[in-house]
Amino acid sequence: MRLTPAQLAAYDRDGFLELPGLLDPGEVAVLRGEVDRVSQLQAEEVKREGADGPPKIMLGMHLAESATASAAMQALVRLPRTLDLAQQVLRETDLYIHHTKCNLKASIEGSAWPWHQDYGSWQLDGIRRPDMTTLMISLDPAAEINGCLYFLPGSHVEGRHDAVFDTSTAYHLYAVPHEVTRERIRRYGPPVAIVSRPGDAVLFDCNLLHASGHNLSADDRWQVYLCYNTCANRPEAIPNPRPAYVRGTDWHRPLQGINDTALMRAAGTD
Ligand code: SIN
Ligand code: MN
Repeated sequence: MRLTPAQLAAYDRDGFLELPGLLDPGEVAVLRGEVDRVSQLQAEEVKREGADGPPKIMLGMHLAESATASAAMQALVRLPRTLDLAQQVLRETDLYIHHTKCNLKASIEGSAWPWHQDYGSWQLDGIRRPDMTTLMISLDPAAEINGCLYFLPGSHVEGRHDAVFDTSTAYHLYAVPHEVTRERIRRYGPPVAIVSRPGDAVLFDCNLLHASGHNLSADDRWQVYLCYNTCANRPEAIPNPRPAYVRGTDWHRPLQGINDTALMRAAGTD
């Protein structure tokens, strides 16, 4: 899928680009089935809302050797509608997956994500440059009441701010300090709510400030995130690296594109 010069310019300016209807309803149904199947597993890659709560984030589904492996997710990261987009905004052909995640944000119990930059954590993985992008795909309607994403348009241009380790929610991560966040919201705001339908997608820069709220609704909010890095930007060796399901190690094997029908073929439904 080719982006127009205007779409590329919007991504560079705003730090994100919305792509309505990227996946069709059949593909969304296949992915929903896979997310549902994997959510029943007890595995290190499935992180919950507290010890016994519903799954919050599921990692490693695109990896063949993971406990959470999914042929559909292995196909998804290589489609012309996903990989080609990442190649275009990163202006680079050889890419690998830093990680994928499925964020389930369960009805009532699904918790917030604090204001952060993804590169706040990823630089600490040893990645030298912010040459990374994420494609988020909605598997449910996302609205303000069920904890849709919020972006701060243009906030990526200042680069990474020193991050603080935030333990206020079930999934601990490096966040932007509150005082800096307040200042940036005043400067770049108001934040934009990424309201979406199943199959809609958004590409966003790894330095874009973003957050999301608690799910106050009666329905879950499932979203899939595909995080691409350039092979040339592979992480440096660091002491105690995070596991490969969250700090990908496939930089020596650039992703090869596959046929656009591969997701449905992987599911055996065409
Ligand atoms: C994230 O920013 O990594 C996840 C946010 C969300 O799923 O709401
Ligand atoms: Mn994030």
